Amino acid sequence: MKKEIHTKREGFSSSIGVIAAVLGSAVGLGNIWKFPYVTGANGGAAFILVYLLCVALVGLPVMLSEHLIGRHTKANAVGAFKALQPRRPWLLVGGAGVLSAFLIMAFYTTVAGWIYAYIFKAAGGALISAKPEDTFGVFNSLISGVGEPLFWQWLVLLVIGTIIMAGVTKGIERVTKLLMPLLFILLLVIDIRSLTLPGAGEGLAFLFKPDFSKITFSVVLAALGLAFFKLSVGMGAMITYGSYVDKNENLPKMAIKVALADTLVSLMAGIAIFPAVFALGFEPNQGAKLLFVIIPAVFNSMPFGRVFMVLFFMLTAVAATGAMLSLLEVPIAYLTEQYRWTRRKATLLTILAIGLLGSTATLSNSVFANVIVFGKTFFDLFDFTTSNILLPVGGIFVALFVGWQWGYAKVKREMSNEGRLKNDGLVRIYMFLVKFIVPIAIVIVLLAGLNLINPIISFFKDISI
Ligand code: TRP
Repeated sequence: MKKEIHTKREGFSSSIGVIAAVLGSAVGLGNIWKFPYVTGANGGAAFILVYLLCVALVGLPVMLSEHLIGRHTKANAVGAFKALQPRRPWLLVGGAGVLSAFLIMAFYTTVAGWIYAYIFKAAGGALISAKPEDTFGVFNSLISGVGEPLFWQWLVLLVIGTIIMAGVTKGIERVTKLLMPLLFILLLVIDIRSLTLPGAGEGLAFLFKPDFSKITFSVVLAALGLAFFKLSVGMGAMITYGSYVDKNENLPKMAIKVALADTLVSLMAGIAIFPAVFALGFEPNQGAKLLFVIIPAVFNSMPFGRVFMVLFFMLTAVAATGAMLSLLEVPIAYLTEQYRWTRRKATLLTILAIGLLGSTATLSNSVFANVIVFGKTFFDLFDFTTSNILLPVGGIFVALFVGWQWGYAKVKREMSNEGRLKNDGLVRIYMFLVKFIVPIAIVIVLLAGLNLINPIISFFKDISI
């Protein structure tokens, strides 16, 4: 077997490149597809407020933690924990991350496949109708097919596999740097159209006028899970990307910038969708199909709609692809560094495994529609267990690791670039968050959101009797 010798580790080549890649990981289907539909399903503005709190108090500190760990150790998710704590079970946290990457990719490639398909449907004229009932028909027939959605999913896998094989700098960095700004501009155009539809005001109120009676613990858990998913944290993707970051980069500043930009894109996607939902007389709680049904209808109500529609789905495909690269890079970095596999072998086998697992998600609306595990189809199961369980649990351990295991002095050195940055106050706030707020908040939200508090209380009552 040919072994690759890792003498010089590849890395991102510039500050802009780093931001583009990290933002490229964060921005994806999470913003354009998931954020709007989860917001719609959970009642709108109040959910968004909870979400913002989750990003600021939990997601952001965990992201910074992962960047610090990654840059310090220059290693993959498992290798990083091993390097810092060789004899302790912390590396299991990295291992769980590698597993999460597979599960997320399994359903993410399904949705990315739908997006790829929509580029062609839009170009071919299949989506020309301002009536959401018609676009719904197109979407329904796509997702309940067998060969068609599988074809698109495997095409997605082929595309990301090819880019990943090209390597970190040439592959990941180049693609994301080029196309992110374009997506932003196009979202702005759609926002303007959506906001100027007659009756758009109701959608804005839905987005920005909170009604707190809608907030329950399972809604808070959904917000927390979305925050993790959105920022790509809780499974080592940001450890892996952090490992490619230069030692002079200002990590806290970068994390804050990325979280702000990412949130802005999500809100812009919300503004693109909800005013239109209400203007066209639809319900906001349509679930996963929201984007695929409403967005074509918006485009069809504007001049050159078809051209814009094709462009929109192309850019969404690019955003999804950039995000998937970071997911895929987690197992690839792990396999090439820990087992010395070649990049090629690691990529091919990983893609194959994801394809097989992911096919079950893609077929959840057809062949496996009646296979229900823990009350969910494969698609929903992968989605729910990763966002709402595995990522937050990963976040607890990352925070505990930095806060209690790695320790203040070492964290301060890494965060201040060996004392070259004067950010003492920031280090202190950050340490307080990861030591106390992050783990406690996640534990409470998880237990309450999964309805585990009462069973646990009665369990202890039973014991003490
Ligand atoms: N953040 C991406 C999105 O919003 C998805 C994603 C990419 C992700 N890498 C990740 C989610 C790592 C969790 C962990 O679409």
